[in-house]
Amino acid sequence: MTEQKLYDLLQDMTLEEKVNQLLQLPARMYEGEGAVTGNLAEEKYSQEEIWQAGSILGLHGASALRKIQDKYMEGQPHHIPLLFMLDVIHGLRTVFPMPLAQGASFNPEMTERCAAAAAKESAVSGVHVTFAPMADLVRDARWGRVMESTGEDPYLNGLMAAAMVRGFQGSDVGEKDRVAACVKHFAGYGAPDGGREYNNVELSEHALREFYLPAYEAGIKAGSELVMTSFNTLDGIPSSGNRRLMRDILRGEMGFEGVLISDFGAVEEMIAHGFCEDGSEAAKKAILAGVDIDMVSDSYCGHLAELVRSGEVEEKLVDEAVLRVLRLKNKLGLFENPYKDGDAAREREVILCEENRKLAREAARETFVLLKNEAGTDGVPLLPLKRDKMLAFIGPYVDCKNLHSAWAICGQAEDAVSVREAVTEWRCDEGIMFATGSRMLDSKERLDRSGITGTRKPKEEGMSAVEAGKQADLMLEQAKEMAARADAVVLCIGEHHLQTGEAASRADITVPEVQMELFREICKINHNVAVVLFNGRPLDLREISEKARAVLEVWLPGTEGGHAVVDVLTGAYNPAGKLPMSFPYCVGQAPVCYNHYATGRPCQGKDDPVFFRSRYIDIPNEPLYSFGYGLSYTSFSISPVWLGSETMKQDGGSQNAAVTVKNTGNTGGTETLQLYIRDVSASVVRPVKELKGFKKMFLEAGEERTVIFEITEEMLRFYTITGTFASEKGRFQVWIGNSSDTENMAEFVLI
Ligand code: BGC
Repeated sequence: MTEQKLYDLLQDMTLEEKVNQLLQLPARMYEGEGAVTGNLAEEKYSQEEIWQAGSILGLHGASALRKIQDKYMEGQPHHIPLLFMLDVIHGLRTVFPMPLAQGASFNPEMTERCAAAAAKESAVSGVHVTFAPMADLVRDARWGRVMESTGEDPYLNGLMAAAMVRGFQGSDVGEKDRVAACVKHFAGYGAPDGGREYNNVELSEHALREFYLPAYEAGIKAGSELVMTSFNTLDGIPSSGNRRLMRDILRGEMGFEGVLISDFGAVEEMIAHGFCEDGSEAAKKAILAGVDIDMVSDSYCGHLAELVRSGEVEEKLVDEAVLRVLRLKNKLGLFENPYKDGDAAREREVILCEENRKLAREAARETFVLLKNEAGTDGVPLLPLKRDKMLAFIGPYVDCKNLHSAWAICGQAEDAVSVREAVTEWRCDEGIMFATGSRMLDSKERLDRSGITGTRKPKEEGMSAVEAGKQADLMLEQAKEMAARADAVVLCIGEHHLQTGEAASRADITVPEVQMELFREICKINHNVAVVLFNGRPLDLREISEKARAVLEVWLPGTEGGHAVVDVLTGAYNPAGKLPMSFPYCVGQAPVCYNHYATGRPCQGKDDPVFFRSRYIDIPNEPLYSFGYGLSYTSFSISPVWLGSETMKQDGGSQNAAVTVKNTGNTGGTETLQLYIRDVSASVVRPVKELKGFKKMFLEAGEERTVIFEITEEMLRFYTITGTFASEKGRFQVWIGNSSDTENMAEFVLI
């Protein structure tokens, strides 16, 4: 449809029809299931509103969506098609590793492929829009949604957000098998005070612009069709009513022209925030701020028409919002084909197809991070596992198929490959033993969020405390007996999959105590323990890291998790992941990140004799495992940094920084070289290190390669004291290494 026709259509619509285009209702009102993450007062909506709402959230399935679309369009005065939106965050039915894990791959190209595969599964299921990528920068491991972010670094997050947008949308969202992307949650949602979900956010203008906005902007520049507001306040203003944030920064500065949708109920929640007296004021503030679609609140449909009639809101604002929604429907080609790619026959072909499973396996193993790998009692590194050894696989994750993490709402546990299943494919002889060892959680801690109903209720135990205790003792005894017979133990432990995700902040970021008890018991019996860690957030790993010989971080790896774990444990794939988020020493250190400022009294390491230093007196300043860290089954040497020149011109200058990297081990492996830069002194203080580039490469044993990074003036820009992005002359330090801890540094001066 031409722009003129869209405009004519708009002119022909009544005010009520227009307002209904701005309403989004959830699946449940259309006989579906779907996630409900907030208040759902179904009685507030009339049948007419329900069947004239412009979009639906949370439905999928080609046949069901076709029926709803037909019924809707028939009853719609202008037969405008509905938009179907769904949270496809890291896969539809084929679940790829959670986004934080994808961050660990340092491979945006792989992330783009995962997003494209997810888009295809979604598109054939009739979905038009996905609520991804989440581009929120995260530094606080207590926050449950860190799993949905790609980590703590603005540069890496920006590359990942853009890759996801490209993967979902392709070059044109109207193309076959593509869905529209939605960058969320604008802005700053990843920095809630104290790591507590939905909490207030306090960010200086400087921090917002330097660290938090770049990844959203990268997703927007990559062409994301939608942006979602966040639940939090910023400068005391909830995002959905924040005019400066939405109109000036998002639309004005970033040039975003697509649809701005509120988060679930966020417009109405401005009342609870204490920012609006009632629904009418909430609707007014949201439309003035520039929110186009009101997701699951009756603020717009209940009050917007009246606000226009009374002259409190100009109709022009409603028209602009509706036009944006119509344009999106048009870009998706819905006026010509309201089902887009929804096709029941193709659904059967595409969903969970071999190709997607293969990609899920490839992706998962690329996200695993080897945190530790010491020699076992036989004097050789514990991992990879040896084929001729007696091995005991112990822990609640051995048989667990809930490997999907939160926000994989279409993922089915039965589709996933467990560790036991994958190990059995590898080796099926009497040298392999399996035991659960312990429950995932203590019986008192059970969580049930099945169907995500918005409430959390304890799961029925169906077993008395005495029975449960006996069963636990038995599990432990079996595990101990196996550990005693085994040459090595692979202990598969971690967080329960419901301990992370939305509304799952934790103040205690440890592996659940029942599993720690198992860990301690097994370590007493067997001195070759490799821990395979399943989790949705950085955890306090002090004890595990100290006692286990090897630790492999596998996050929540998705449908092909078991296969990927065995690929890495056996050395069929050499681990190459790097941490995208610091693992704090303990919870008291959170939030912690590598790109912090120096302070006026920087601590010079743990032996610094000066008392009045910026440090803790009881723990180190450094995280247990830093951003960018990750080992391999081989080793690499990196030469000192070579710089093209000791000076670089500010005006159009650039220069090269290079190192030679060599695989010094006996097996081929992948290393990710990371370029960090520091502006030593500037008009505002600069982070002690900032990631500015990385290169990931495979080297055969003994192979060496010279790796060159180009440093441009643009890479040296920052948000200066004048409130603009610019570089400033002076001294710069440049590091090239294989983690943010690198000390491999050279200097130049920008002149
Ligand atoms: C989440 C969003 C999500 C939305 C719709 C909200 O609770 O914050 O990220 O897209 O629900 O499901």
